Amino acid sequence: MSQSRSSWKSNAGFLFAAVGSAIGLGNVWRFSYMAHQYGGGAFLVPYLVALIIAGIPIMMLEYGLGHREKGSSPLSFARIGGRFEWLGWWMPVVAMFGIMLYYSVVIGWCVNYLFYAFQLSWGTDTQGFFFKEFLQLSDSAADFGGIRIPIACSTLLVWVLCWMICFRDIRHGIEKASMIFMPIMFLLTLIIVLWTFSLEGASDAILKHYLHADWSKINIFSTDVSVRSEAGKVWTAAFGQIFFTLSLGFGIMITYASYLPTESNISKNAYITSIINCLYSFIAGFAVFGIVGFMAQSQGVPFEEAIKGGPQLAFVVYPKAITMLPSFNTLFGVLFFLMLVIAGITSGVSLVEAFTCSVTDKFEWPRKLVVTMICITGFLGSLVFTTRAGLYLLDIADHFITNYGLVLGGLLECVIIGWVFKAAALRNHINSRGTRIPAIWNFLIRYTTPGLLGYFLYLSLTNDLEKNYGDYPTDQLLIYGVGWMLICLIVALAFAFSPWKPDKLKRRHNPEEDDLLV
Ligand code: PHE
Repeated sequence: MSQSRSSWKSNAGFLFAAVGSAIGLGNVWRFSYMAHQYGGGAFLVPYLVALIIAGIPIMMLEYGLGHREKGSSPLSFARIGGRFEWLGWWMPVVAMFGIMLYYSVVIGWCVNYLFYAFQLSWGTDTQGFFFKEFLQLSDSAADFGGIRIPIACSTLLVWVLCWMICFRDIRHGIEKASMIFMPIMFLLTLIIVLWTFSLEGASDAILKHYLHADWSKINIFSTDVSVRSEAGKVWTAAFGQIFFTLSLGFGIMITYASYLPTESNISKNAYITSIINCLYSFIAGFAVFGIVGFMAQSQGVPFEEAIKGGPQLAFVVYPKAITMLPSFNTLFGVLFFLMLVIAGITSGVSLVEAFTCSVTDKFEWPRKLVVTMICITGFLGSLVFTTRAGLYLLDIADHFITNYGLVLGGLLECVIIGWVFKAAALRNHINSRGTRIPAIWNFLIRYTTPGLLGYFLYLSLTNDLEKNYGDYPTDQLLIYGVGWMLICLIVALAFAFSPWKPDKLKRRHNPEEDDLLV
């Protein structure tokens, strides 16, 4: 018996959930650090170009596909042509087993730090605290050295929260949670940004390091080869960041859009989601640059020395700055880590949902059972990243999965929709209900985006072949990175080859549109 498909109660609920997925841990520090490393304000140019020529068009593609086929990514791909179902699986499997397993652990760290914030337990040597006391990092990625119990406990809490939200149907679970969490998160961000502005040295750092543009860093037309090759890296990073930050290529947006009612303005929703997400990153950047500037000034060190990338920004630099605040340090710390936990959870549930919906669409098992099984398996899988080698493994998994798994998924998605299904057919569907999108969209989906993604894939591959990523030994990289992706591929294929119930593959959309399938 096929159950009727659940749906969003309101378009606003859908938007909150989609923006909740897009805004995550990456918006707060990944974006800021990139902006710093790649030319300050000048980075905004490749970032905006990437948003316009790849981010928004692919967002429309994913929304349009999910909405038209009324299915999770495997079901949608199976409906447009059974032989592509494996790609429909590849994306949520990479999301679930590739990303969520470590993403949940990083949210877990934020939970731990939220508790530490009450006592400012990280002390003054925040670097020593993070690496030696908190992570108890081992000497190499091969030396697991046992599970860190406090991290495992907070990771368990994260999975329980995701389970509680996903357990119920879309309206009562993800929609309700997003409607509550997202306004709180926006408010917290606003408080933190305004607070940061009041700190000494903050505005100066924002002007000098964030808004000031070093145009040479993005000049891909330079006659100087070294400038050109450095600029190439900046453009690659901008496109990668857009994909990651908009949660594209994971099957998430396809799934979310499949719960939209027939009469929905797809392109408008895509514009809103993408623009709010990027605006959020831009605004959060003020908080990051401001606080680092304040800290640098208080310590009398140059800005370059104070700022750090990746996890260190949130877990080393921020705690230090919090300790140095003139007043209300505890409150600031609690608000900051609460904001991160919320940003992480609303993204985490979307990763779980993409996989859950794929399984329930295919096998018609009860949602509650599927969510429970997925969360238990997910928690057990994420324990690997709670070991003392966790940070190394996380770094390797993140590198391989985002640079290869994700980019490959996005590339194939464009090729299949653009060439096999025909971009024009999907554009007609989107245009038939809502704000029209220009014909250039077809061109972007067929040529520009896959061409660029292919080029980035080539760049990452040549870089990694030239020099081992992060100087890890080759055998470890092969085991962790390539091995992990092979597992994802095998799981995707295994699901793809189990048969569908025939009625599931029937299109749910308006039969008049059948002639659009060229
Ligand atoms: N978009 C999220 C961020 O910027 C990350 C994410 C990726 C979330 C994929 C869900 C799925 O942090």
